[in-house]
Amino acid sequence: MIHDSILDTIGDTPIVRLQRLAPAGITMYVKIEAFNPMSSVKDRLAYAIIRDALDEGELQPGQTVIEATSGNTGISLAMVCAALGHPFVAVMADSFSIERRKLMRALGAKVILTPAAERGSGMVNKAAALAAKHGWFLGRQFENEANPAYHRNTTAAEILRDFAGRRLDYFVSGWGTGGTMTGVGQMLRLARPEVQIIATEPKVAAMLDGEPWSPHKIQGWTPDFVPAVLDREVFHRNVPVDETVSRDCARDLAQKEGIFCGISAGATFAAGLEIAREAEQGSVIMCMLPDTGERYLSTFLFEGINEGSDDEWLAAQ
Ligand SMILES: Cc1ncc(COP(=O)(O)O)c(C=O)c1O
Repeated sequence: MIHDSILDTIGDTPIVRLQRLAPAGITMYVKIEAFNPMSSVKDRLAYAIIRDALDEGELQPGQTVIEATSGNTGISLAMVCAALGHPFVAVMADSFSIERRKLMRALGAKVILTPAAERGSGMVNKAAALAAKHGWFLGRQFENEANPAYHRNTTAAEILRDFAGRRLDYFVSGWGTGGTMTGVGQMLRLARPEVQIIATEPKVAAMLDGEPWSPHKIQGWTPDFVPAVLDREVFHRNVPVDETVSRDCARDLAQKEGIFCGISAGATFAAGLEIAREAEQGSVIMCMLPDTGERYLSTFLFEGINEGSDDEWLAAQ
């Protein structure tokens, strides 16, 4: 398959049926966003924001782009900006993984860190201040309508195409900006009203349930505010999940299905499993898996994973 640009390889990610982890009588599918060029769902949002801004004349050729990001958006914007010839600056809280900073810099971006204590809002405010001071284009992923619009036109369209003529009862997604859940949820409600839209978020920051936010380990999910692009009417039910269970679910997907994914993917699958336990026999559930496990080498996803030789195991054989 020959493409004109790396940007043409964004989207059209595979949907895979689970072979071993779905409870008996329930079919579970996962949509694997790690198949995007920078291995996360955020490639879609990055391309959507830049394409829309160029089309609308809000971004000039060669102009610097800046964005507040928990990492994946920054990596995706760094890739899109490199492909289109825009310098890129990411503003990121210093609590997010080292891999993310290095990947952005490897793609030619500059990374400005803000203290974790200032939370998501701290990095959003810093990015806005720098954009105003230097005349840079601010991506505004949490408010930019191009974000859910792109998910309506691509992610949702792919799911509708792939499930045409097939049963689908539940769609499960977490939220960071809310772009994925809003865009896909709105289209499914229109085209497949029988599908239940299931939201999920960390138990310790169950904002959609009206609970207070507290720091959590599911990177990319649930900042300390509910973003403007998140449609609070779109989901039928919210299933908050535990962080350690989420980590273990990501490990299970890797070790029992060969599907290597990040913590938020494990978390989405954890919520899917909760639905599966209550669903009627024959139900079909689809979970979004937002990114790859390789982005979490320095996090608790890899905690306890041995770096040396497995000599003890070998001796016991
Ligand atoms: C790892 C990860 N999972 C999930 C999400 C949520 O996606 P969305 O911004 O479409 O809500 C993001 C981005 O915010 C992310 O980086």
